[in-house]
Amino acid sequence: MRVLVTGGAGYIGSHTVANLISHGHEVTVLDDLSRGHQGALQSFPSAVLEVGPVADERRVSEILSNRKIDAVIHFAASSLVGESTADPLLYYRNNVAGTQSLLGAMVESGVTSLIFSSSAAVYGEPATVPIDEASPIRPTNPYGETKAAIERMLYWVHQAHGLNSVSLRYFNAAGAHPDWPIGEDHQPETHLIPCVLKAALEGRPVSVFGIDYPTPDGTTVRDYIHVVDLAEAHRLALEWLFMHPGAHAFNLGNGQGFSIREVIQTAQTVVGREIATIESARRRGDPAVLKASVNKARADLGWSPQWSDLTTILQTAWNWHRRHPHGYGNG
Ligand SMILES: NC(=O)c1ccc[n+]([C@@H]2O[C@H](COP(=O)([O-])OP(=O)(O)OC[C@H]3O[C@@H](n4cnc5c(N)ncnc54)[C@H](O)[C@@H]3O)[C@@H](O)[C@H]2O)c1
Repeated sequence: MRVLVTGGAGYIGSHTVANLISHGHEVTVLDDLSRGHQGALQSFPSAVLEVGPVADERRVSEILSNRKIDAVIHFAASSLVGESTADPLLYYRNNVAGTQSLLGAMVESGVTSLIFSSSAAVYGEPATVPIDEASPIRPTNPYGETKAAIERMLYWVHQAHGLNSVSLRYFNAAGAHPDWPIGEDHQPETHLIPCVLKAALEGRPVSVFGIDYPTPDGTTVRDYIHVVDLAEAHRLALEWLFMHPGAHAFNLGNGQGFSIREVIQTAQTVVGREIATIESARRRGDPAVLKASVNKARADLGWSPQWSDLTTILQTAWNWHRRHPHGYGNG
C-alpha cells in the first residue's frame, strides 16, 4: 500500500513509519518540522519526506495524486494541553482547519481511507473507569475539543463523501523503538516518562503534581502504551478499514494504570539510581485515574500489545534517552 503519513517526523509518526516500511508499505511523509525531526527519518531512506503544512490543500492534492496514495495516516497536530488553553485559536487552526484542508484534498483526489490520531483527551473527566468508546465525549480543554471536533467532521465527511476513517484515541504513548534509533523528543517535554528519565540523566529532581488524590498512593494513575504497540495498531487499523467502511473509533491503551510513584520507582530500578521528587500542588483539570478499556481494539483489530509492561516501556525509553541526551539535536 502507498501511505501518506502526516506528522511522520514526530514521535508516534516515526515509529509508525518504521512499522509500515518493515511490512512492505511505501511511505511518503508530510511534515512541516515545526515539532518533528528530520533525524527521526534518517534510518528510513525509502520514506520520501515532503516538508510543508497539511493546510496546503493544493500541495497535498498533488502529493496524493503524483504519489498514487492509497491511504493517509494523520498525526500532524499541535498537542500541548497547556498551550491549547493559552492559545485555543492556534489549536483550531492547526488541528481542525488543517484536517479540514487535508480532507478536502483527499475528497478531491479520491483517497478514501484515513487513520486519525485522536486522544483520550476527548473524554475529559470520565464518569467511569476503565473508559470505553461509548463513554461520553466531553473534553475539558481546547486540545481535546479539537480532537473531538475532527472526529465529528470525519463522521459527516463519511456520510457525504464516503471517506472512511478510524480515529485512534491514544492514552499515554511512551517508550522507544528497540531496534531503530528513534525515540521521544518533544520540545518542550510535558510527558511524565521522558521528564522522569531526563531528570535522572541530569541528576535533578522531578515534580509530582498532587499527592492527595483518592488513589492507593495519592498520585494520579495513567495508562501507558508502548509506542511500538501503537504503531502496530495503526497498520492493523489501516488494513481493517479496507474491509469495514465507516467512521470508527478505538481506544488504544494497555488497560492497566500506573501511578506517578510507581513510574518513578520502576524508573529508579531501570536507571539504577535514585530520582528525587518535588511534591507540588495538583494541576487544575488533572483527573485522579485515566485508564482505557481496549477490548474493542483487541477484538476487532486483533491487536495485542507486546511491549507495554512498565519495565519494558521504561527500559526502551531509557536506552533512547541515555544514547541521545540531547534528543535528535538540531536534526
Ligand atoms: N504522545 C502522546 O502521548 C499522544 C497521546 C494522544 C494523542 N496524541 C496525538 O498523536 C499525534 C502525534 O503525537 P506525537 O506525540 O507523535 O507528536 P509530535 O509533536 O512528536 O508529532 C507531530 C508531528 O506533526 C508535525 N506537525 C504539526 N503540525 C503540522 C502541520 N500543520 N503540518 C505538517 N506537520 C505538522 C510536527 O512537526 C511533528 O513532527 C498528535 O496528533 C497528538 O495529538 C499523542
